[in-house]
Amino acid sequence: MLELIGVSKTFHTGFMGRNRKVAVDGVSLQLKEGEILGLVGESGCGKSTLGRMAVRLLRPSSGRIVLDGKDVTGLPERQFREYRRRIQIIFQHPESALDPHFTLMDSIRESFNRLGIPKSEQQAVLERLADEVSLPLDILDRYPGQVSGGEIQRAVLTRVFAFKPRYLILDEPTSMLDVSVQAHILQLLRKKAREDRVGMLFISHDLEVVRAMCDRVMVMKEGRIVEEGPVEKIMSAPDTPYMQVLVRNV
Ligand SMILES: Nc1ncnc2c1ncn2[C@@H]1O[C@H](COP(=O)(O)OP(=O)(O)O)[C@@H](O)[C@H]1O
Ligand SMILES: [Mg+2]
Repeated sequence: MLELIGVSKTFHTGFMGRNRKVAVDGVSLQLKEGEILGLVGESGCGKSTLGRMAVRLLRPSSGRIVLDGKDVTGLPERQFREYRRRIQIIFQHPESALDPHFTLMDSIRESFNRLGIPKSEQQAVLERLADEVSLPLDILDRYPGQVSGGEIQRAVLTRVFAFKPRYLILDEPTSMLDVSVQAHILQLLRKKAREDRVGMLFISHDLEVVRAMCDRVMVMKEGRIVEEGPVEKIMSAPDTPYMQVLVRNV
């Protein structure tokens, strides 16, 4: 289980860091293996900040991150390494995850090497993973600038799945993609959650997608969770006026 316990983040900006912005304010959540937990809320409410803290791309100002029972909040980088593989993040702009000067294959192989997958086994692993995400192998010789957004996102998934993550943070993973490509990738992610019991924190502003994907939903407003519950309940009969407006605008 991935647990966030009373996690907050305050950003300091401007001259001498005088402007303070509380982006996340005391959020707690529990994500179980195999569960898809939706995180919704208006732009700027703190969703991405929360997702980044969950994978330690950002240090929380306060609160704790507990991964499979281990408090990893302040764990030195070297000791965090064994946990890092278990929890991966996928962003809205997949091209930012890939070096534009590397072919897709180079990027994937670089991860394989980092993971210590022997050279003799890499081709077989690559073929299995590419098949899993429906990525044609001949595309892998191209550079990120020469393929579509959907193909890049599949290459990113190929790389991320190689880590055999237990938890995935998905930050608007398909909002830049065409509807048909989006549907396929979402289906793939659902399958991964169901079959491999990967727990997913699914961040999205698209409530239709959230309804189709998630088991449970948390609603965020101004850095706080204002409502949470089973997806059907939240979508059909939300308690807060805030969520009632979001649902009505779908
Ligand atoms: N690095 C940063 N420095 C200062 N403020 C930030 C930073 N990142 C995000 N913020 C602010 O924190 C708030 C939450 O941002 P974010 O988590 O990106 O929201 P969301 O993903 O829900 O749109 C916003 O007001 C944003 O401007
Ligand atoms: Mg965001």
